[in-house]
Amino acid sequence: MTDSTFPAIVENQAGFTEVSEVLDWLTAEVARFKEQLASTGAVLFRGFPVSSPEDFDAFSAAFGYGDFTYKESLSNAVRINFTPRVFTANEAPPEVEIFLHHEMAQTPLSPEKLFFCCLSAAEEGGATPLCRSDWLYAAFRERHPEWARQFAELGLKYKIQMPAQADADSGQGRSWCSTLSVETVDEAEQRLRTLGYSWRWEEDGSLITTTPAMPAVKQLPDGSESFYNQVLAAHLGWKPVGEDKEEPLTFGDDSAIPGEALVELDRLSKDFVLPLDWQEGDVALVDNHRVMHGRYPFTGSRKRSVVVCLARDV
Ligand SMILES: [Fe+2]
Repeated sequence: MTDSTFPAIVENQAGFTEVSEVLDWLTAEVARFKEQLASTGAVLFRGFPVSSPEDFDAFSAAFGYGDFTYKESLSNAVRINFTPRVFTANEAPPEVEIFLHHEMAQTPLSPEKLFFCCLSAAEEGGATPLCRSDWLYAAFRERHPEWARQFAELGLKYKIQMPAQADADSGQGRSWCSTLSVETVDEAEQRLRTLGYSWRWEEDGSLITTTPAMPAVKQLPDGSESFYNQVLAAHLGWKPVGEDKEEPLTFGDDSAIPGEALVELDRLSKDFVLPLDWQEGDVALVDNHRVMHGRYPFTGSRKRSVVVCLARDV
């Protein structure tokens, strides 16, 4: 199922050629775009003169959301900052698919809004699939009420291995020092205690953490429910953890999630996916609570450069 309003598309009808003109116009119109975002879950701005991380920083700042920096986040991806608010989406290699997820929904700290900006499109592939999680959960609940009830009632636990040193070739390669914003083992353990995580250290210096039970379903302001979690990305993309190859994802009571339920969620999600095929200068604003995103693999000699800015409601 698709909806012509998802994502909403705003084009440069006034023919702005200067960023300063765009910023004046945006500031005047921002309430309208926030309303569009609330009803559609994503708004794509196309054809505007946004060509550098600095332009994009100013464009996203015009919306007046609060900052959510990579440094303070518990994101597992290796990223590179361009400005204090703007960084690479994920440094994972081109052939690696990033499966559908809500940004940082596997941690207690996640941004409410995401801005993406395409500075350079891939030659082939590299689209960002978007998927409405409220539509997905409604369809899943209708077909499989018992599984849907289990997710909603039990929640989820995520198990992650954080390397001692950053590994840019992995979608989850951020070191534990960087992830937890600490420098020592003691500081790491103090931070984990505060977060309610359990953990253990491996011989290679890496750290395996398990979250407390986290909600799998989020109530949205309009009364709908969103499948707000990392289930698809973890099921399809995360490796088994540690020497014992432990499952990276369980229900919140540590019981196993039925494999058929995961297969069905993956199958069903494809009915709701819209690939965002990037053009240079595109800016997409995404409601992270309602819409999942991912990244398709890409090829070609030109570097795909899609940068992000994370934001919180204020
Ligand atoms: Fe992401």
